[in-house]
Amino acid sequence: MRLRKLKNSTSIINNSKYIILNPSEYKGKWNKVFNNNNPIYIEVGMGKGKFILENALKYPNINFIGIEKYDSAISRAIKKIDEYDLDNLRIIRVDACELSNIFNKEIDIMYLNFSDPWPKDRHEKRRLTNEYFLKIYDNIFKKEKVIIQKTDNRKLFEYSVSSLSKYGYIIDYISLDLHKECVDNITTEYEEKFMNSGPIYKAIYKK
Ligand SMILES: C[S@@+](CC[C@H](N)C(=O)[O-])C[C@H]1O[C@@H](n2cnc3c(N)ncnc32)[C@H](O)[C@@H]1O
Repeated sequence: MRLRKLKNSTSIINNSKYIILNPSEYKGKWNKVFNNNNPIYIEVGMGKGKFILENALKYPNINFIGIEKYDSAISRAIKKIDEYDLDNLRIIRVDACELSNIFNKEIDIMYLNFSDPWPKDRHEKRRLTNEYFLKIYDNIFKKEKVIIQKTDNRKLFEYSVSSLSKYGYIIDYISLDLHKECVDNITTEYEEKFMNSGPIYKAIYKK
């Protein structure tokens, strides 16, 4: 879902210390952006940024990068994040199809939270767990590829389990009702919205 654009979104984005406006320049050098060799976790499609911000606050020894393609979402995320002074968080504005131009074997974990389900068959290639994207992700992970997915959409979840399995990922963890069993879970905006309407599915895929 696309959000309404904030009036001053361009200036909110351009004036934030968190935004990296030329991310491809840092391909293979993200440790220099953070000035350390700590692990790097990314969330693709971060939306309004609650999940990535709360992770960055909770885990100062991990570097987080929020990735989002729409200014409308990024500006809302940045408005929140700008209230904090964090060294371990950056935001980039790109489409996921660009990720292999941005990172070279430097990502430890990728989060896909409540990705758009694209239910129509003719839009299958737009799903972030389609083979088209999985091939792109291959180049960005350090060594072991780890994708952590949460969604309220059963069909997208089943599709993803099948797509990642076919691509060679093993399922390291699966939950068909995360909120019934979970002890330690940072929620996203979408999760807060939908968690009382049905189960939240979670899987950790590794390759
Ligand atoms: C349904 S929202 C979920 C937002 C957030 N992860 C959450 O759980 O609250 C999906 C987000 O993914 C973004 N998105 C979808 N496809 C994308 C792509 N190809 N590259 C980057 N972001 C994408 C959308 O713009 C939207 O903000």
